[in-house]
Amino acid sequence: MADTQQSTPKAFVIGDPIEHSRSPLIHRHWLRKNGIRGSYDPVHVPPAELAGFVAALKDGSSGYSGGNVTIPHKQAIADMVDHIDETATRIGAINTLWFENGRLHAGNTDSHGFAANLDASAPGWDQGRIAVVLGAGGASRAILHALVARRIPEIRVVNRTLERARELADHFGPTLSAHPMDSLHEASGGADLFINTTSLGMDGSSAPAIDFTTMNSDALVTDIVYVPLLTPILKMAVDQGFRTVDGLGMLLHQAVPGFERWFGIRPQVTTELRDLVIADMEAHR
Ligand code: ATR
Repeated sequence: MADTQQSTPKAFVIGDPIEHSRSPLIHRHWLRKNGIRGSYDPVHVPPAELAGFVAALKDGSSGYSGGNVTIPHKQAIADMVDHIDETATRIGAINTLWFENGRLHAGNTDSHGFAANLDASAPGWDQGRIAVVLGAGGASRAILHALVARRIPEIRVVNRTLERARELADHFGPTLSAHPMDSLHEASGGADLFINTTSLGMDGSSAPAIDFTTMNSDALVTDIVYVPLLTPILKMAVDQGFRTVDGLGMLLHQAVPGFERWFGIRPQVTTELRDLVIADMEAHR
């Protein structure tokens, strides 16, 4: 059984590959800022070693208080933990592990990250009536969960593969509808919120031209892609006169609940942290 009350708590991020993760930068910044003598380690865990890693975590021999889980383990680890919270169950993916009463708990903080970013950058965003979500992959599931939790009355999922949008509409309930990519223009009619959850525009890739002008004039456009910060989709929205929020804040805010569980202090998402991550992105361009 793991001892979570160690004097120098340790947390990890596991994935394969792991060297590109920005989580160490974020958590080490918070450790420094809060004067905590703990650590946050990137650990390369290939799929074949996942069960062994989790066994050593559970029996306490690895000395970790918990950590983050990234690709490709977000689903596979579900069979190895003692408890999965409701949010992660609904999303179907795990990104955070911690101990409660000696049992290994698993959750997903991406929905929180999405909503907390908009709460901070565009207060009142959840008062809108219609949201359009582009994409129906793993990232879309976390965002749909957040939109349903905030009781957005109508959520339109638009996806290249209509069948995947339909599956999500069935899964997340009656406020959702599924639409093919070629009806994006009509599906955006009267919308208050537009969220890109696809990889379109990531790392300099192109995105199809989107006409946002059928949305309400004060509608908000946001993108989960944050490299580059001003994605092609956000740029189109700005050029058409819409408010935008970039995706970096979601990455920062999703890290908050994990840090609090492992290290006992709720950390702050500050401009200083944001600038630190932007500088790192610039350095590794
Ligand atoms: P993630 O877990 O990051 O969301 P994913 O499950 O592979 O990744 O989903 C990627 C999403 O981006 C999907 O909605 C995908 O559309 P399909 O379901 O039709 O594959 C969408 N996507 C990726 N590349 C795209 C492209 N060139 N045009 C339109 N949609 C694209």
